[in-house]
Amino acid sequence: MRRTTAERLAALLGPTPLTYPRYADLANRLRLLIIDGRLTHDTRLPGERDLAAALGSSRVTVASAYQRLRDEGHLVSRRGAGHDVVLPDAPIERALPDPFPRDGGVIGLSTAATAPPPQLASLLTGLTERLSALGQTSGYHPDGLPELRARLADSYTRRGLPTEPEQMIITNGALSALHLITRHLAHGRDRILLEETSYSNAIEGLRRQGFRPYGFALSDTGWDLDALRAGLADAATVTYVIADFHNPTGRMVGSAERAALGAVTRRSRTRLVIDETMLEVNLDGIAVPEPVACHDPTAITIGSASKSFWGGLRIGWIRAPRDLVRGLVETRSLLDLSSPILDQLLVSDMVGDPTAVLDHQRRVHRHRRDHLVRLLTERLPTWEFEVPPGGLSLWVTLPRPASGQLVVAAERRGVVLTAGPRFHTESGGDRHLRLPYVAEPETLTRAIDVLADVWPTVDTEISAQRTPRSRLSA
Ligand SMILES: Cc1ncc(COP(=O)(O)O)c(C=O)c1O
Repeated sequence: MRRTTAERLAALLGPTPLTYPRYADLANRLRLLIIDGRLTHDTRLPGERDLAAALGSSRVTVASAYQRLRDEGHLVSRRGAGHDVVLPDAPIERALPDPFPRDGGVIGLSTAATAPPPQLASLLTGLTERLSALGQTSGYHPDGLPELRARLADSYTRRGLPTEPEQMIITNGALSALHLITRHLAHGRDRILLEETSYSNAIEGLRRQGFRPYGFALSDTGWDLDALRAGLADAATVTYVIADFHNPTGRMVGSAERAALGAVTRRSRTRLVIDETMLEVNLDGIAVPEPVACHDPTAITIGSASKSFWGGLRIGWIRAPRDLVRGLVETRSLLDLSSPILDQLLVSDMVGDPTAVLDHQRRVHRHRRDHLVRLLTERLPTWEFEVPPGGLSLWVTLPRPASGQLVVAAERRGVVLTAGPRFHTESGGDRHLRLPYVAEPETLTRAIDVLADVWPTVDTEISAQRTPRSRLSA
């Protein structure tokens, strides 16, 4: 059971005063948060009195809003126990809907994950021989398969960050790597500093571990270092950044900014964690600067096979300073013991000879990115975005703060998206939408048809809601 405090819920609910009738406005805002995923199934809402105080509203307003949500099936209340969010009839695959729908079904544009490369089949065939060479072992390697660790260490060394295989730990993906690191280094309600905006699952996952994620601003070319320093003054146990084809913005941070970040973090008590998951999704073949960890010797870097090769392999890794490795491996062996050997062998083959797979994946996604760009330019010309040189999604700026409403309207028509606010630690993101371009071109066309269809109504509704308020404040 997750709980949300009255203060946090009030921040998510947006500006007050509520509009008349207040209970209906509050019920609408709560419903939006439930449907767009910011209030998840099983979240316990604050008591009526506490939420009323946080909103500067009456208890009757909150009680009536809760009653409306109960009537609709979005809330269950038990006397003395509280009010719990429920998602009526939501199928379990709603958590990760697939971008490759079968039979014209729901399109999961909330997932920026690729299809497997065609080379996978022949690599699999080659595994039989390699398996027998492994000999009679348990197959448990809490730090990972030695040959994969050696190849990954080599690739860091070639990129200018000297690395020994003993510094590498193989994990079940990069997200799992991040949670292993925070579980090992952070405790209780520790604070974790992230970029504002950042990867939505990282933010929510940290929150559900009980930590307190909070944000510092990005700048046009890198990070707002004053905001970083101010954030670090609040004692962040861990600071998490994405420098290469950032999710969701696609931005690549330059060398000078990397050095400037490292100069700040290496003098602070925070542990810098750099997520390089998107590193190889370099669609335009741009020059990629040195790893950020070159500028902070205490930093931890995480990476993954998910975006460059295939997410279904579930293989990621950690590159850590030597003094941290033993502790991390011990913690890991209590969580999931080890990563699958067959998948590690496959990833080892791909890391050893990456060109064919990377070329294929980059060609496919460059084409899909350009297709999505064309569709948006033609069908939704008021939406703005920069074409990212890499990564797997566009970060779109909407002409109005309509992200949540748009996501709800699209979902009713079978297109599942992630609303902009989910890429923020607190508030913000209402004007943004992340649009992955991993789906096949015809699926993207179908999805943009839906968005172009629902947008005028959402646009009109939002402008109607906002006009009276701006008149009031004028
Ligand atoms: C920045 C970032 N980190 C981690 C992940 C998750 O990676 P994995 O599948 O290796 O857990 C993603 C997936 O989108 C991502 O964008």
